[in-house]
Amino acid sequence: MKSIRQLKNIKGKRVLVRVDFNVPIKNGKILDTSRIDKAMPTLKYLIKKGARLILISHLGENGKQSLKPVADYLKKFIKKDITLLENIRRFSGEMKNDSKFAKQLASLGDLYVNEAFSVSHRAHASIVGPPKYLPSYAGLQLEKEIKNLKAAFKRPQHPFLFILGGAKFSTKIPLIKKFLGRASMDGARHDSAESADAVFVGGALMNNFFKEAGVDIGKSVYEKKNFGLKKLSKNPKIILPPDVIVYQNSFVDVGPYSVKLLEELIKKSKFILMNGPLGNYEKGFGKATEKILKAIIKSRAKVIIGGGDTVSLLSNLEPRTYNLKPNLFVSTGGGAMLEFLEKGTLPGIEALRVRSKE
Ligand code: 3PG
Repeated sequence: MKSIRQLKNIKGKRVLVRVDFNVPIKNGKILDTSRIDKAMPTLKYLIKKGARLILISHLGENGKQSLKPVADYLKKFIKKDITLLENIRRFSGEMKNDSKFAKQLASLGDLYVNEAFSVSHRAHASIVGPPKYLPSYAGLQLEKEIKNLKAAFKRPQHPFLFILGGAKFSTKIPLIKKFLGRASMDGARHDSAESADAVFVGGALMNNFFKEAGVDIGKSVYEKKNFGLKKLSKNPKIILPPDVIVYQNSFVDVGPYSVKLLEELIKKSKFILMNGPLGNYEKGFGKATEKILKAIIKSRAKVIIGGGDTVSLLSNLEPRTYNLKPNLFVSTGGGAMLEFLEKGTLPGIEALRVRSKE
């Protein structure tokens, strides 16, 4: 992959930058600007070199929302004329990865930059299309994501603790299996240097484990499918919360004893990977996750944290010391981080790699 740092003589060139400004917005106010802030060094770098920027982003799933609040936010930091296209998902060709549409998009620029790690798991037109037609480069944050996340599967330090929460069980089960080592799948132990020493499962994911173990989970959220978890949970590396918080007949968070147990594990770990909150954060059950994030910030382990809700919780913790910690990497990716950890690459990254081989 070529980096934007290799770019020379781009004064006056039209640079098409795919960013991911899919940020939470309520009543026109951006609730968490971290994704925009993290793309800023790339934008400033290109502007300094005299490039003319054309930014592309989506917002939300269906293209209905407007990027206007993002444009207003950008104006505070960029005092030069740049173009921000309106929500790219308004065009039906985007999610269908229509080649005509991709070609049209590419015709807007002389060069293409991918600074959208968090949506690079989608083979959408604005992600995989332009590299077919334009010289293409990786943005600074995209490079950082790859470098840091690789640490999770390139000889991580041990003890390695993997904390997984949130929902969407089917997207996370391959990762649980991967970090358990092959032991989880064929019964025999084949631990590799890459497998974790402990996998703590919280969030709605824990309910799937409990349900298959025959525990009465009341009205708790879970994914209605049998994943063969009874066998998997016999793996001694799997740690399920020993207590939970129950609200209106649902398991909504892990309990205080679970928090203590996890705090102890954090203290002993040298490498920690966390994705997804431990409780139903959207309904206000973020307490346990906050405590765990605080314990992680204190730890000396190398840490990687990702997932939209987890990162929002982290961003709102006071004091905001986490961004001063060199041992802590906060990924912009949710689904993209999980897929990258599982497969070691993403469609958007492959598109850049193919282009640079030519
Ligand atoms: C995200 O928020 O994970 C990315 O922006 C991708 O969004 P999507 O899940 O709607 O494709």
